[in-house]
This record gives sequence, C-alpha cells and structure tokens, in this order.
Amino acid sequence: MRTPLETKQFRVMPGDDLKEILKEPGKILREGGLVAFPTETVYGLGGDAENAASSRKIYAAKGRPSDNPLIIHIADFSQMEAIAQELVPEAKILADAFWPGPMTMIVRKNDRIPMETTGGLDTVAVRMPSHPVARQLILTSGCMIAAPSANTSGRPSPTRAEHVSDDLAGKIDAIIDGGPVEIGLESTIVDLSDGIPTVLRPGYINLRMLEDVLGQDRVRMDPGLMEENTRLRPKAPGMRYKHYAPRGDLKIVEGSEGDVVETINRLSAKAIEEGRRVGIIASSETKSRYLQGDIAEIGARSDDKAIARHLFGILRRFDDDGIERIYSEAFDTPRMGTAIMNRLIKAAAHQVIRAGRRVTRVIFVSGRGVCRAPMAAELMRRQRLIRPVEILARGRLVLFPEPINQKVQAVLQGKGMELADYESRVLKNEEISDTTLVFTMDAAQRADIIQRFAGADENNTYVLSYYVGDELDILNPYGGNLQQYGLCFEVLNQTIGKLAVKLNETAGSLSESKEERI
Ligand code: TXA
Ligand code: MG
Repeated sequence: MRTPLETKQFRVMPGDDLKEILKEPGKILREGGLVAFPTETVYGLGGDAENAASSRKIYAAKGRPSDNPLIIHIADFSQMEAIAQELVPEAKILADAFWPGPMTMIVRKNDRIPMETTGGLDTVAVRMPSHPVARQLILTSGCMIAAPSANTSGRPSPTRAEHVSDDLAGKIDAIIDGGPVEIGLESTIVDLSDGIPTVLRPGYINLRMLEDVLGQDRVRMDPGLMEENTRLRPKAPGMRYKHYAPRGDLKIVEGSEGDVVETINRLSAKAIEEGRRVGIIASSETKSRYLQGDIAEIGARSDDKAIARHLFGILRRFDDDGIERIYSEAFDTPRMGTAIMNRLIKAAAHQVIRAGRRVTRVIFVSGRGVCRAPMAAELMRRQRLIRPVEILARGRLVLFPEPINQKVQAVLQGKGMELADYESRVLKNEEISDTTLVFTMDAAQRADIIQRFAGADENNTYVLSYYVGDELDILNPYGGNLQQYGLCFEVLNQTIGKLAVKLNETAGSLSESKEERI
C-alpha cells in the first residue's frame, strides 16, 4: 500500500484575495499534483488536463474505471477551440447562453488532450465553471483542469469540502474549502459530437432551456438515460455505472401525497420492527407526518433547487449514521425534477414503489401462451398475496386454443404442479382494466402490446424481470431440452417471488384500507 499523502487544506472566505490563496494550489496543479476545488455544481478533483500522469492519478485516487472520461474545465472559449477538432455552430450558441455555468459539452478532440484524460475516446467533455474559485484556479495554475467529481467512485458527489476529505484525504495533494456548493447536482452534459445535440446527463440546465436556445427539435434526451433496463445503454460511460449509491437500501415511493406518507410510514414501521435503522427523505410539506425513523427534510416542493442541493448530503449523512433502509418521496418537480429523479433512481437501483396503486388483476403474456405465461401464472397463484388478485395467462399470437407445452407440463409435474386442463387464449383489450398489470417476457413483446392495445401503456405494462429490478429477459426455452425448460422454471420462480413481495409492499395502503371500511 502507498503511504498516505499529506493533504493540504486551503480555505476561502468571501472577500479573500483569491489570487493570493490559490498560488500554491495552482503550483501543485502545474507540477502534476491533484487539488480538489469547489465549483457551482459539486466539488471537482482537479489535475492538469494535458498531463497524462495527472489523469492517471485522478483515476487511482477515486478508484474510478479508467474508461470513464474526465471533464476539462476551462476559463475562456479560446481554450475550447484549442482542444476541439472542429466546432459545430451549436457550441458557440450554447457557450453564449450558459457559460460560465453548469453545462458540459462533448466535442471531437484534437491531439492536445491525451487519451488518458478522455478514457480512450476521441471526443472530449469541456465545461467553463462559474464558481470564482474554480475560475481563478484555472487562471492562476495556467492549466486546463481535468476534474471529475471529487468523490470515491460509486459514492454520492461531494457538495461540501468535508465530503471530499471523507473520501480522499491522504490520497490527494490539496483540498480547497469554499463552503457548500450552490447547485448540488453535476452539470448537464450535451453531446455535440454526433448529430443532433443530445443530453447525456440531465442537470440544472434542463431540456426546456436548451430548446429555448437551440430550437424545439434541435436537441433531445439520450434515450438510454431513463430506461429501466440495460438494453439501451446510456451514451456517457459514467451514466452506465452503478452510481451515487448509498450504503443503505434505498427505495423511492411515488403516488399521491397521502398514499406516499402512509406507505412510507408502514414500510418504516415494519423495518424498524425488524431491527433496521430507517431513514426517510421527506419534503418540507410532509415531514411532520412521518412517525418514526431518521427524517431528513430535503426542501420544499416549491423550491426544487433546495431539493437538488441537499440530496447528496443527505445520502452521505445516512451512510455515516449507519442507516440500513431509506425511503424517499419522489421529486418530479417541473424545473429540476428530471435531474433530481435521474440521480435518485440510480441511487435506488430503480427500486420504485407505486403507493396506493390498486392491482386486482395480473396478466402474464408470452408469445403463444403455452409455456412461459402459464408457468408464471401458476407460480403466481402459489404466492401469498395480501390482496386477492386475479391471475391470467395469455398469448399474443394464439390462432386456436392449445394445451400447455409438453415439456412445461413435465417440469411442472416434477414440482408437484399440474395444468392438465389449460388452454391458451389470446390477450384481449377488454381484459386490461385500470387496475390491471400486464407482464411480458421481453422488451419487444412489451412494445408490441403497448402499441396494439388501447388499454396498455407504460404505466401498466412491464417486462416482468425489469419490473422486479432484474436485468435479463425471461428467455424462451422453446426448442430446448427438458433441462432448459427446468432452468426457465427456476428463473420464473425467483422472479415471481420478487413480484409478490413488490405487490405486497403497495397493498394495504390508505386508499385500500379506506375502501375496506366502507
Ligand atoms: O458538474 C460537473 O460536471 C462536475 C464538476 C466537478 O465540474 N464534474 C463531474 O465529473 O461530474 P464526472 O467525472 O463525475 O462526470 C463526468 C461525466 C461522466 O458520466 C463521463 O462518462 C461523461 O461525463 N463524459 C466525459 N467525457 C465524455 C465523452 N467524451 N463522451 C461521453 N461522456 C463523457
Ligand atoms: Mg462523478
């Protein structure tokens, strides 16, 4: 193991002479050292962008995979021109509108920036920060500063100097403490290197603001960004890694305010009963309605800037306090909601509970409805559900009723289950009511059903495995041997077990218990 570095601490207060204070950190950067510094978004871990050795040190200090490129911080647009191969007109338009500020552009690079800095890519991410310390550090050092967020890879980005110390003290040369940051979420990344400008990471500068300067159809979101599965991979390498993960198990609860409070209270009570330490992320409006647990007020819904600013700090505090279960409200606010929910959903590894949603029917759909769908339905019937649910198996392509596949029958018999009288049936639109959930075996089936059935939409039709937080499709064993059918059964068995847990989590919330009393 390496001997720890002595990490020098610098502190800037309003009114300080920045040029004077930043002389030494500037020198450290010039000589190839690493300096953490505040920006308006989050703290960055800086090194000289043109020095391959500095970039390697950044990856080592963060424990970051070396294929995840760094952002280069500049103080003047001419520096962008100096490292880009060619600039599309949008670069200037965006710079005029949002620089200095919380926006990063991806452009094609020339040879001046080493591959170590860009993780081997021939494009480069560039940002001109507005924070006075960041600006002055670029000027005083004379370097373009390559800086990822100054956290250990996988932890929430640092919004205070103490967060940086917690992760990196002893591993870097210096930390400049400029107090808490203003925005609290990382910059918006816009890719200009490949066709229509594309948002690779949402941030303070939202899609609307970009459309306002580029034009309605002249900018889009990376389709891989919000997907629940890994089919469409986000384009920014960093958005693909598990990220911002707190140590506790985080679940997001969404729905009407009353349902959310009720569900979080119920789940918290249960977790506390099981001896778990529980943290709750609450808005100012609802915080007094939570009954137990460590309740963190994130901010008012009317002030989503506050919510953004506080999110990472709360996740870190919960880590420090040994919180094991975290329940968070959803914050789909109009201004920064996309950016907030992007970080929160990643932190929760896509675990979202829809509170108060009544489910009275579950339909499993496969191709011909003779194999995976009836197997899933039969497994579901054997689960213990808090609420009775009607369970159906259907096919998308059923020309005439068929009995269950013989190998499926053999596998089921081996498990003491049988479906002797089963006959396949085609899915009908009338079967999809507003309290129905439809589950398909893969993404193509889901897309097809949403397109063809008026009652099916993104909020009631899901790929079974993705819905429970798994990433693989339920593969069709058709044409395989008995063992492959057996494997499919085992996969389905596990998946259906998780589905039952998930349905039980939302059952019994306020709306339903009210009904019961009537
Ligand atoms: O607000 C911010 O952007 C902060 C502050 C310090 O400026 N920095 C930051 O850096 O968040 P980092 O390294 O944590 O995130 C950089 C993101 C990663 O997701 C990375 O994959 C992506 O930018 N990125 C960098 N260069 C890229 C490129 N050439 N193509 C696609 N994505 C790129
Ligand atoms: Mg980061």
